[in-house]
Amino acid sequence: MGTGGPSSFWEQLHVVLALLLLNPGSAVAGDARHSCYGVPGLPGMPGLPGKDGRDGLKGAKGEPVPPWLLSLGMKGEPGSPGLPGKNGPMGPPGAPGDPGDPGMAGEPGMPGSYKQKHQSAFSVTRQTGEYPLKNIPVVFNHVITNTNHDYNTTTGKFTCRIPGLYYFVFHSSHTANLCVILHKDEVKVASFCDHKTNTMQVSSGGTLLHLDAANQVWLAVNDYNGMVGIGNSDSIFSGFLLFPD
Ligand SMILES: *[C@@H]1O[C@H](CO)[C@@H](O)[C@H](O)[C@H]1NC(C)=O
Repeated sequence: MGTGGPSSFWEQLHVVLALLLLNPGSAVAGDARHSCYGVPGLPGMPGLPGKDGRDGLKGAKGEPVPPWLLSLGMKGEPGSPGLPGKNGPMGPPGAPGDPGDPGMAGEPGMPGSYKQKHQSAFSVTRQTGEYPLKNIPVVFNHVITNTNHDYNTTTGKFTCRIPGLYYFVFHSSHTANLCVILHKDEVKVASFCDHKTNTMQVSSGGTLLHLDAANQVWLAVNDYNGMVGIGNSDSIFSGFLLFPD
């Protein structure tokens, strides 16, 4: 008898609890407060998680992706350009370029430059009252005409630039006896001597002479050296190319 009572009590409590769990908001729960079974206990704490299950069976091998399918993949955006590379080694020199256009025509040359090449003429005077030294070139120091500086007023010598036939001539004022000797290099070509009979007199002389380039011609005096160039009494030496070779 003792077992029958409690047994039916626990059975009934189970039923009520089950009903409460299934229908917690129902009138049955509300009614339970007024029932004679008392307030049900709070739900228990959740249990610990179970252990991991065993590994599953190995899956079947997949089909390889065909290449045509791979090519169907979306094309990516092009990347940003990389930094410029270093300069490569110098290449071999290129072939020469085409010749340039001809330049502009130059300025016209100096008038008569061709003619000047074949001209030679001088007239020089000796302006001093002192007699010249003997046996050395008499220096005529004043230029009237002297193309291309063929006559040198420092040395007293004419130097031939253009081979050809030349004419030389002098007119000399003198206040004492005078001998004028015309030299072609060291050779005495002609002598002109005059004894003084007046206070002032003029002697002269001249000759044609063939010269080669670099030949030199000058006048000299000997002991008779009374040549002057004073006031209106000049001593002048001239020469010019008559015919070039
Ligand atoms: C004249 O001759 C001197 C001495 O040889 C020389 O120094 C000078 O340059 C010459 N002058 C000219 C214009 O050739």
